[in-house]
Amino acid sequence: MDKLMIRGGLPLKGEIRISGAKNSALPILLSSLLADSAITIANVPHLNDITTSLTLLGHLGAGVIVDEKLSVEVDPSTVTSQVAPYELVRTMRASILVLGPLLARHGRASVSLPGGCAIGSRPVNVHIDGLRAMGADIVVENGFIEATTHGKRLRGCEIELSLVTVTGTENLMAAATLALGVTILRNAACEPEVTDLANFLNTLGAKISGAGTPVITIEGVDRLGGGHYRVMPDRIETGTYLVAAAISGGSVKLKDTDPALLTAVIEKLELAGATLESGDDWISLDMQGRRPRAVDISTAPYPEFPTDMQAQFTALNAIAEGSALITENVFENRFMHVQELQRMGANIELCGKSVRVHGVESLTAAPVMATDLRASASLVLAGLVARGNTVVDRIYHIDRGYECIEEKLSQLGASIRRLTAAQGQQKHKEVIH
Ligand code: UD1
Repeated sequence: MDKLMIRGGLPLKGEIRISGAKNSALPILLSSLLADSAITIANVPHLNDITTSLTLLGHLGAGVIVDEKLSVEVDPSTVTSQVAPYELVRTMRASILVLGPLLARHGRASVSLPGGCAIGSRPVNVHIDGLRAMGADIVVENGFIEATTHGKRLRGCEIELSLVTVTGTENLMAAATLALGVTILRNAACEPEVTDLANFLNTLGAKISGAGTPVITIEGVDRLGGGHYRVMPDRIETGTYLVAAAISGGSVKLKDTDPALLTAVIEKLELAGATLESGDDWISLDMQGRRPRAVDISTAPYPEFPTDMQAQFTALNAIAEGSALITENVFENRFMHVQELQRMGANIELCGKSVRVHGVESLTAAPVMATDLRASASLVLAGLVARGNTVVDRIYHIDRGYECIEEKLSQLGASIRRLTAAQGQQKHKEVIH
């Protein structure tokens, strides 16, 4: 397994480009199954989760062509299968996003249950309940969600989501585009990625309004056609590099991004003592070598502070001046990084769904293990400031969500290197002894 080795202590400095949003590209690619002709999607990030999605689309029979600039052409007209197998779904929970589109377009879908994952049990009951309300017959058996419309179209209806779920909203919104009549989703997720998906579907001929608010109205249409679409910038990648600059006392400019989507994160970085400036498609952060101040964090659905930035701010607080309370309200078990940060000298107390972080002046390098995507990012951030060489193991997690992380951090002046399995073992020994 590949590892990342980071030599801490260098303030980041320079400019990089932000990639297309993973959490936007995934639903967009998978809901291209709703259309009846070819679609071109630009600004798709080069990530393992995207490769899995393309493999899944290919497995279903769709034509997939990727060009060298990572524009992806999907031709859904050749789909022959409606089965999303365990081997693919298990590596990427977002595969559940084929359920609504397959059901709406082909009248049936058989999707392996995503099962548990490191950050909590993550059920899909809201997706299933919503599709049932639209007339689908769904049973869960032998580890699969078996859904059928018995040859009919889904029916539009009013659905009050029992909790705010991002992919749940996306699945139902996508399915409703081809339903008979009007669907109204209440208590919908307001995340920008939901809006991006709605804009994409509208480009193909869907009639969706209200995306980005808690009430989304979808007027069903008979068909969706082809089109071109460009995926929005990744706000979580942007936030992660801003924290990287802040934690290292550096100064960076991030291009091709959208600062308007980061209000809650920017506020916290300013409280931490950073100076931020932004334009329409760029943002810069300057820490002027200062140590950050501790900032309290409480995660909640958009526009509140994103759970996907919680681990990175835990790392920031670990070396901050003062102490901070971090509360995780979205997922039940999202503090796996805490134990690893403690191994690097962080002073963190775990208390239920919160942690109290008492900032220490410096961290020390240690071999650490990535447990999920954002947790692994927090370990890389900690490695940027730790004394010595930090080796982060199991970085396949990071490759699911951060495009070219070592290239981008190197471009900003970090000392970071990918070790292949064999090199990793050797370095591990050197670091320990
Ligand atoms: C999406 C994002 C993920 C982010 C999360 C919250 C994608 C591909 N992933 O994940 O990066 O961390 O939003 O912003 O977009 N829940 C249920 N039943 C359901 C659905 C969800 O109980 O049917 C619960 C979950 O267990 C969790 C909460 O609702 O506690 C929110 O989860 P959800 O918004 O669905 O997360 P994802 O869409 O999986």
